[in-house]
Amino acid sequence: MELKRRPRRLRANETIRSMVRENHIRVENMIYPMFVMSGEKKKVEISSMPGVYNYSLDEFSLALREVVDLGVPAVLLFGIPESKDSVGSGAYHEHGIVQQAVRLAKQHYPHLYVITDVCLCEYTDHGHCGLIENGQVMNDPTLDLLANTALSQARAGADMVAPSDMMDGRVAAIREALDKEGFAHIPIMAYSAKFASGFYGPFRDAAGSTPQFGDRRTYQMDSANGNEAMLETDLDVEEGADVIIVKPALSYGDIIYRTKEKYGIPLAAYNVSGEYAMVKAAAANGWIDEKRIVLEALLSMKRAGADLLITYHALDVARWLREER
Ligand code: PBG
Repeated sequence: MELKRRPRRLRANETIRSMVRENHIRVENMIYPMFVMSGEKKKVEISSMPGVYNYSLDEFSLALREVVDLGVPAVLLFGIPESKDSVGSGAYHEHGIVQQAVRLAKQHYPHLYVITDVCLCEYTDHGHCGLIENGQVMNDPTLDLLANTALSQARAGADMVAPSDMMDGRVAAIREALDKEGFAHIPIMAYSAKFASGFYGPFRDAAGSTPQFGDRRTYQMDSANGNEAMLETDLDVEEGADVIIVKPALSYGDIIYRTKEKYGIPLAAYNVSGEYAMVKAAAANGWIDEKRIVLEALLSMKRAGADLLITYHALDVARWLREER
C-alpha cells in the first residue's frame, strides 16, 4: 500500500519517540504542598492521603531535607493552627504556624522556594474562607484579613503568596498591601479558576476545614462553568496576578487550555487531594500502575498548557525521574 503519511514511522523505537516528544515532566516545575502544625515530634499521616503528613515544626524541618535532596524546588505551605476562632486570627498572626514554618524553612534552606497559601478556612472555627455575618460569607471585610495574612507571610520570608479564598478583589487588596509595605517584589500566584469541588475532601480532613454550615458555592465556582473561569482569570490578571492556578486539574483540562491560550502567563495546575487519594487507593489495590498513571495524568496537565504542577506526588515523581536517569 502506498501511504504518504505514516505517523508510525516516528514511533518505531524509544530513541525517535523521545526525540519528538512534545511535553515533559520535570522536577523543576514541581510544587509540593505540605501541612504544618504545632507540637513536637509529630508526623501524622493523613488517613485519606497515604504518604502525606501533618508535621510539627521539628519534623517539618527534617522532611524538607528530603524535598531539597530530591531537587523539588518549591513547597506550598498550609497551617493547622492549635485553635481556631471566628475571625481566623491564626492566619495572620506574626507567630502563626505557617509564619514560623516559613522562617524555619528559609533559615535552613534559603534556596528552597517557599510559597504560602493565603486563606482563612483552616483558621476559622466555622471553616469558611471569609468572615461570617448573619450566616453569609462577607466579601469586603474579608479582604483586609487576607491582605494581612499575605503580609505576615511575606514578613516571615515567603517567596510567593497564593490566595485560595475566592473573594472578589483579593488579588488587588493583597497587591496593594504588599506594595505599601515594601514587598513589591513578592509575586502572587492566584487560585484564579478554583471550582467548588468534591475533590477537596481529603484536604479538608487533613486541615479540619470542612465548613460547619453550608458549603463553599457562594464563593468557589460552579463546575459547570467555563466562561466564568475566564472572567475570574481576567480579574486576577488585571489585579496583578503573576501566576494563575486552575484547580482541580484532572477534570478541568479545558480550563487549563483556555486560560493558558488567552493569558499566556505562567499557569499552575493543582492536582488536588481527592485526585491523589483516588490514585493511591487504586494503586494500593493493585488495580493500576501508579507510576504510569501519575506521569500520564501530570503530562495531560502539561499538554493542556500548565507550566507548574502542584502535586502531592511531587516527591514520588522526583524519585521516579531520578531512577530513570
Ligand atoms: C483553602 C484550600 C483548599 C485547598 C487548597 N486551599 C480547600 C478548600 O478550598 O476547601 C484544597 C487542596 C486540595 O484538595 O488538595 N481554601
